[in-house]
Amino acid sequence: MKGIILAGGTGSRLFPITEGVSKQLIPIYDKPMIYYPLSCLMLANIKDILIITTPEDQYSFMRLLKDGRDFGVNITYITQSKPEGLAQAFILGEDFIGDSESAMILGDNIFYGNNFSDLLDNACKNAKEGYATIFGNEVKDPERFGIMELDNNLNVVSVEEKPKKPKSNWAITGLYFYPKGVSKLAKSIKKSDRGEYEITTLNDFYLKKNKLKAQLLEEGFTWFDTGTFDSQLDASNMIRTIEINKDKVICCPEQIGYYKGWISKNDLKNRAKVLSKNSYGKYLYKIVEEEK
Ligand code: G1P
Repeated sequence: MKGIILAGGTGSRLFPITEGVSKQLIPIYDKPMIYYPLSCLMLANIKDILIITTPEDQYSFMRLLKDGRDFGVNITYITQSKPEGLAQAFILGEDFIGDSESAMILGDNIFYGNNFSDLLDNACKNAKEGYATIFGNEVKDPERFGIMELDNNLNVVSVEEKPKKPKSNWAITGLYFYPKGVSKLAKSIKKSDRGEYEITTLNDFYLKKNKLKAQLLEEGFTWFDTGTFDSQLDASNMIRTIEINKDKVICCPEQIGYYKGWISKNDLKNRAKVLSKNSYGKYLYKIVEEEK
């Protein structure tokens, strides 16, 4: 299973903040935004990760994440000269994906909640069995998202991109799992009226073949698309509250890498040293001291 983080785009909804820095590098409380989607792929046991950025920002991502060694993963990078829709990630990522199943997450999506690992394991299993998986979260402003319509048995009946008259309140979040062969399908997509290779068109291909499954995020699950001033601040406040209440750092890729055995205790200690001046580094030291 290979993973892609889509971190391109102009970030124009966050100008002037993102006039000088990529959106996915700005902080959500105590860590860069991209740590959150990275943690999510790692939780799904994905170690080979491709990050797609704009040509201007690629170096900054490389400076931050290097080749993934701090977390025990393998990160490679490619650029997207012009953002032409989410499904383009699978066209650009064709060589990287090769003959594997794949997952894609948007660089500005944050997921945090109970049993998330189980949902991710299920999605990986689905992909191996030839099914695509999307994740639904109930929202109050469905016109802003891709929307899935469900029948009484919670099977997906339709998917629509930002519909004017939404058939449900179930937003399709920015995390997608696909079986082998997704790049070939992505290449057959025609651009939509707004000039994009829509991920919703790709999902509709799987739906029409009866190969699309949905996992619904339960009430209490936290999902943010942090693309606006308010959602960015809301997400920061929420992460801070959770971390203070639980006395831990959440969506922490060093911790996930360590617990999965992808980095050693010594690696973690070295990383803690680099971050030792703040609560993030102190948390890493705390994990180092734990009996495993
Ligand atoms: C994209 C997708 C949309 C999805 C959303 C989730 O929209 O096109 O289907 O619901 O991400 O974050 P965007 O936020 O790029 O407008």
